[in-house]
Amino acid sequence: MIAQTQMQTSGEPALLKLRGVSRRYGDVTAVQPLDLDIFPRDFVAILGPSGCGKTTLLRIIGGFVAPTTGTIEIDGRDVTGIGPEKRPTNTVFQGYGLFPHMSVRQNIGYGLRLQKRPRSEIDDRVAEALRLSRLSELADRSVTALSGGQQQRVALARALILRPKVLLLDEPLAALDLKLRHAMQDELRRLHQEFGGTFVFVTHDQGEALSLANRIAVMNAGRIEQEGGAETIYAAPATRFVATFIGDANLLDGERRDGEVRLAAGPAFADAGPAGAVSVVVRPKSVSILGEGEHAEVELAGTVAEVVYLGDHIKCTVGAAGGQSVVVHLDAATASRPAVGDKVRLGWQLSKQRIVSA
Ligand SMILES: Nc1ncnc2c1ncn2[C@@H]1O[C@H](COP(=O)(O)OP(=O)(O)OP(=O)(O)O)[C@@H](O)[C@H]1O
Ligand SMILES: [Mg+2]
Repeated sequence: MIAQTQMQTSGEPALLKLRGVSRRYGDVTAVQPLDLDIFPRDFVAILGPSGCGKTTLLRIIGGFVAPTTGTIEIDGRDVTGIGPEKRPTNTVFQGYGLFPHMSVRQNIGYGLRLQKRPRSEIDDRVAEALRLSRLSELADRSVTALSGGQQQRVALARALILRPKVLLLDEPLAALDLKLRHAMQDELRRLHQEFGGTFVFVTHDQGEALSLANRIAVMNAGRIEQEGGAETIYAAPATRFVATFIGDANLLDGERRDGEVRLAAGPAFADAGPAGAVSVVVRPKSVSILGEGEHAEVELAGTVAEVVYLGDHIKCTVGAAGGQSVVVHLDAATASRPAVGDKVRLGWQLSKQRIVSA
């Protein structure tokens, strides 16, 4: 994928390589054959709507689900037929799966005890994990007497103490309320930095993906529609689906013919490519209401249909020709607020729009 090769400047080989990986359940294809490279120290989000195959893909990586086709390589080793406990991965499942009859300390030390590590090593590493996860004060409490956020931290510490090359997290923050979720996002970012490993997490929340991940794989109906740096995915969505799933986007209908795209809303501009229907994606904050004598590379006329005050910005919806509507985000501090019924001209720069197939 283009974005991928652009981003990998360090020249390090991929830590995780999926090739032609798919999974079928009877008639349902949960994951279509796909390739994915994940690099050391990446924080990767697998993002997509419910049922698109995120959990299945994560479980294939962790070794809990066998792929129907394809191979998985981790750190240069083919692990396709190898069980989860023999892979250099560790998974935090949704709901955490803590042992209710054990204390925080016992939960965190469980994996090392299973590995029959010397007592002194276990004690040292548990103390370190407690400290990094800010759980030292709660070490001897039963995990059943913890809040949701604290349980989440225990689950993370229990996985991280085994120093997995790849930590797999399935919707790690979904069970938490909004405020706690934001606090835990900061925590996850910090843990990723301090442990220095590779994190792969599943989420259906685009805001969470953008705020945590340096790379995002956007899934739709079992396919990865785009994979790349978080900023690239936002600024240069490759498909209609990616554009609408991540952030707010205007999608304008257009037609490409003879090296020109003409929008149903009016404007036209030069664009090479195959003839046919296209969509133009432009973010609301990239569109301005043009003042008297002001011009932009793409301009169209319309009538203000709705103005909504949203605290930090004003959302203004403008109806244009061809039944198209364009949303504009204006600074809440803007001097001249448009009113419903106003005739306006909208404009944006060509560099701010993306043309995707319709
Ligand atoms: N064990 C299974 N048996 C049969 N079908 C399954 C099984 N696991 C998943 N599926 C199907 O595969 C598809 C993908 O499921 P998956 O759990 O991977 O989606 P998801 O993206 O994680 O969704 P969500 O966001 O709701 O958790 C769904 O249609 C699901 O019903
Ligand atoms: Mg899932």
